[in-house]
Parts: sequence; C-alpha cells; structure tokens
Amino acid sequence: MLDLFADAKPWQEPLASGAVILRRFAFDAAPSLLQAISSVATLSPFRQMVTPGGYTMSVAMTNCGHLGWTTDQHGYLYSPVDPLTGAGWPPLPDVFVDLCQQAAIAAGYPDFHPDACLINRYNPGAKLSLHQDKDEPDLRAPIVSVSLGLPAIFQFGGLQRNDPLKRLLLEHGDVVVWGGKSRLFYHGIQPLKTGYHPLTADCRYNLTFRQAGKAE
Ligand code: SIN
Ligand code: FE2
Repeated sequence: MLDLFADAKPWQEPLASGAVILRRFAFDAAPSLLQAISSVATLSPFRQMVTPGGYTMSVAMTNCGHLGWTTDQHGYLYSPVDPLTGAGWPPLPDVFVDLCQQAAIAAGYPDFHPDACLINRYNPGAKLSLHQDKDEPDLRAPIVSVSLGLPAIFQFGGLQRNDPLKRLLLEHGDVVVWGGKSRLFYHGIQPLKTGYHPLTADCRYNLTFRQAGKAE
C-alpha cells in the first residue's frame, strides 16, 4: 500500500534562544520508547505525587535513571531512591539514552549526559501549571522533552512568570530541547483534551531528560 508519510522527515522550529522543537524526531523510536516506559512502570509504578503544599498533582509520574524527581513534605528533590518502593529507580533504558543523545546533538548540545528521566502520564484533564525546571544543580545542561501519544498544548514563556507565553501544540514524536539563555524559562501543559491515539489510547506521555547530579 502507498504510504503517504513514508518520506516525512523530522523538521526543526526555533522556539527561543537556546530552545528548539524537533518535530517528529522521536516518531520512529516511539513504539520502543513506549515499551520501555511500561517496563519502567512495572518496577516503579506511576503515582500522583503530592506537592509540599498538600496538592495532589493531576499528572501521574515515575522516573528512571540514577536520580528521580520527587516531592516530600519539605519540597521538591532528586532522590536515588523511589520513595514508593524503597529501591533505586530503574536504570535508563538504552533506547531512552540513544534517542535523547541524538536529540541533544541535533539541538546543539553535544555534551549532554542525562542521569535522570522524569516520565509524566497525562490523562484527559491533567495539566502541569507554569513552572521552571530549577532543581538541577548544573544549569549548563539542557532539558530534553519527548512527547508521545495524544497532543497537548505546551506553554513556553520567559524568565518571569508573567512574561508572554507562546502556545504550541506538541504532537506524537515531537521533542523540545531548551538550554542556554532559555534554560530557566517558565513552561507548562494545558489540560489534556480527550482523544484516542493508536499507540497510547487515551493518554499522553512525556519524558524529560535532565542532568540532575554533578557532571562526571
Ligand atoms: C515538564 O515540564 O516536566 C513536562 C512538560 C511536558 O509534559 O511536555
Ligand atoms: Fe518542566
């Protein structure tokens, strides 16, 4: 059968200084990435974390890698231990590391070595309020963010919470990389719309790769 999309190549859209969207960059790897997500989740299940303010997040999360992002009564932290299981987080799957490294190179960050991957699962209505990724000690390392499944509207602002926001639809296979001047830019995800995706059914997954420890 004629496949109209067989030749569709990824393309890049500049987003801000140091930030770029790599459209469909993870499209081909997506089935393997999704398989790896379910393997990670058998060891460290998705859970809705509770913020230090006592608010249960609508997004379900887990982690893999040496460090995982989590919450406790005192704040947000990176921990080598999954508080739910008492064991270390599952290791970063090879398919995660490969895809992330290729994306970082394509975005102009050839020296990125992630040691943490936060996995977010959005069901309809789930959202992530505007925030900065600022719990990482070495801000020279970028953030690499991979979207899988249902589309979502990503908000990307500036260094101040009330800076004007760009609103961009992130679709299955899109990768956003931000670092340099935009490393601390505010960003968020608007409430997920109900839908159906052939690979993820009624949800969206997002992988965010970080260097959360000190550089080797
Ligand atoms: C995040 O900011 O951690 C996730 C962004 C996204 O889900 O695309
Ligand atoms: Fe974030």
